[in-house]
Amino acid sequence: MSNLNQETILDVHHWTDSLFTFKATRDPSFRFQNGQFTMIGLEVNGKPLLRAYSMASANYEENLEFFSIKVQDGPLTSRLQHLKVGDKILVGRKPTGTLLTSNLLPGKYLYLLATGTGLAPFMSLIKDPEVYDLYEKVILVHGCRGVAELAYQDIITKELPNNEFFGEGVRDKLIYYPTVTREPFRNRGRLTDLIESGKLFDDIDLPEMSIEHDRLMLCGSPAMLKDMRAIFDKRGFIEGSHAQPAHYVIEKAFVEQ
Ligand code: A2P
Repeated sequence: MSNLNQETILDVHHWTDSLFTFKATRDPSFRFQNGQFTMIGLEVNGKPLLRAYSMASANYEENLEFFSIKVQDGPLTSRLQHLKVGDKILVGRKPTGTLLTSNLLPGKYLYLLATGTGLAPFMSLIKDPEVYDLYEKVILVHGCRGVAELAYQDIITKELPNNEFFGEGVRDKLIYYPTVTREPFRNRGRLTDLIESGKLFDDIDLPEMSIEHDRLMLCGSPAMLKDMRAIFDKRGFIEGSHAQPAHYVIEKAFVEQ
């Protein structure tokens, strides 16, 4: 398992009966860019059982953090959900991923659009001081079925603005827009509908989508990504890559089992 590091669990936080966050030690040689993912997992019957997970921690932090669903009969998450402090996990040494500002052309507004655990890579990116140097506003939209699933709300609204390293960027530039679809809340509706109707832009007091100003990163369920991609394509937005930076980038929120 030379391509894997063994790390130790330092903290586990259960948000709901289907969502949790865990923190682990980080091998000093493990380098990544904010927004990337790597393979992580457990040794099961002598073999590594791995899934792709985005780092929710920033690349300058001492420890690693991951945000996961729990699927009761999922091969990996049915086990991961029982992690305790001191347990070991495996972390792949080769991070990768497309949710990088370098895959986008310069722009004015960076939209980070997530559903469910798709929030994870954006937790890393909103802790990156460089993101606030690159954009006038950074808009984090997190869509969930219920209010309880809006994990990290307090961290985003209370802790990050006071961070001595990047707090000023957060206070001046980060707009956090949580929205739920299946119960009452101050913001309601699917991301796709909020964008199509223009309600999102009205609510945050920014102009309607434009290729000139807006850059977007998406992470969520395959259905959400498909529908959102159709909206962008219709408006002429082009998907960016390492080879050819453009207007938006997409990553599936990986762990569904
Ligand atoms: P809805 O409650 O209307 O299905 P999930 O937990 O299924 O991944 O959903 C997370 C959030 O993403 C929910 O608010 C859900 O809304 C929304 N969602 C599901 N499918 C789509 C889609 N195709 N486009 C936009 N949002 C979606």
